[in-house]
Amino acid sequence: MKFYEVASYKEMSRKAANIISAEVITNPNAVLGLATGSSPIGTYKQLIEWYNKGDIDFSGVTAVNLDEYYGLSEDNEQSYRYFMNKNFFDHININKARTYVPNGLAKDPVLEGKLYDERIKALGGIDIQLLGIGLDGHIGFNEPNDVFMRDTHLVDLNESTIKANARFFESEDKVPRQAITMGMMSIMRAKKILLIAAGEKKEAVVREAFNGVITPKLPASILQLHPNVTVIFTKESN
Ligand code: F6R
Repeated sequence: MKFYEVASYKEMSRKAANIISAEVITNPNAVLGLATGSSPIGTYKQLIEWYNKGDIDFSGVTAVNLDEYYGLSEDNEQSYRYFMNKNFFDHININKARTYVPNGLAKDPVLEGKLYDERIKALGGIDIQLLGIGLDGHIGFNEPNDVFMRDTHLVDLNESTIKANARFFESEDKVPRQAITMGMMSIMRAKKILLIAAGEKKEAVVREAFNGVITPKLPASILQLHPNVTVIFTKESN
């Protein structure tokens, strides 16, 4: 595992964007596993800047997102599909038909999870998976649990996740209580993992995840078993 502690959110974003752009430049048909939240916004901004300069071409890239709130439609401003379009896809030359986010309105979330996993498999797996980390150690929306959930599944969000994500909503009671998230298998099968975390309040969970016991009570700890992980951490929050 490579662990970088950098001085600022900007530096974290630049380093993460560098790693992703190296992937796309060396493999123009790369499958990128992507995340939402405040951690990757700077990374997407940097990638857009380099795209505008003509330094990266996303035309052959496929994107697969980690998760989506259950119950939100694509055009809901709080949905993760909306976030991805607004913060990244609308600004680059990726083929939108090859950008995948779980369907938050799926009538049968179990079937949706199954189809999502089959799609990732059919794409040949994920070349590099970008991850943030929750204060409770979640990755995607894999919340602390008694077991590591293997497949894409519907999950009840924890109080701490609901509270942390309330900043994106009008009020806490508007935060959906469930989400569809990629399970551990698709994440662990990604050829490379790139985890970014910003802010002093994330420091303890980041250190515990990579130096502590591997346990589903701290889902990110499973990444200790992955052969190619890069972590970029900064104490500065964005
Ligand atoms: C987002 C996701 C979540 C976030 C995590 C950290 O797609 O899967 O696991 O990465 O909640 O969120 P931020 O970056 O907002 O602190």
